[in-house]
Amino acid sequence: MTEQTLVLIKPDGVQRGVIGEVISRIERKGLTLAALELRTVPTEIAAEHYAEHAERPFFGSLLEFITSGPVVAAVVEGPRAIAAFRQLAGGTDPVEKATPGTIRGDFGLETQFNLVHGSDSPESAAREIGLWFPALRS
Ligand code: CMP
Repeated sequence: MTEQTLVLIKPDGVQRGVIGEVISRIERKGLTLAALELRTVPTEIAAEHYAEHAERPFFGSLLEFITSGPVVAAVVEGPRAIAAFRQLAGGTDPVEKATPGTIRGDFGLETQFNLVHGSDSPESAAREIGLWFPALRS
């Protein structure tokens, strides 16, 4: 079943120069891009995107980080796109959870600066795609 997921290359990924690398991995997996844009993120969008983490101690610094520089926002699609991109990304903690060969496992060191975001469920994907790309809202 074809589905869509919202992918972000966070400010650390953009600054590290891995936009091409991440997009290349998405394409090599067989997934396709339905939307792709370099964006500066308003705090309100970042806060809404990460609303489920609002009570977490790292919420403030997460918002500061996500709004610190441009991000790449993309809608990625294909069969089981949500799980497929999360497999490419690796676990949230780039050292303890992500394995070598994944984006975070290959390029990351710290949980906050973990390079990419991918929606974690069909419900999150619908919400996040609607937030970042209102024209694609389902
Ligand atoms: P992401 O997959 O975008 O979802 C929530 C983000 O919060 C996560 O990636 C990390 O960037 C960040 N995050 C999660 N846990 C922590 C933590 N313990 N400390 C700092 N940042 C975190």
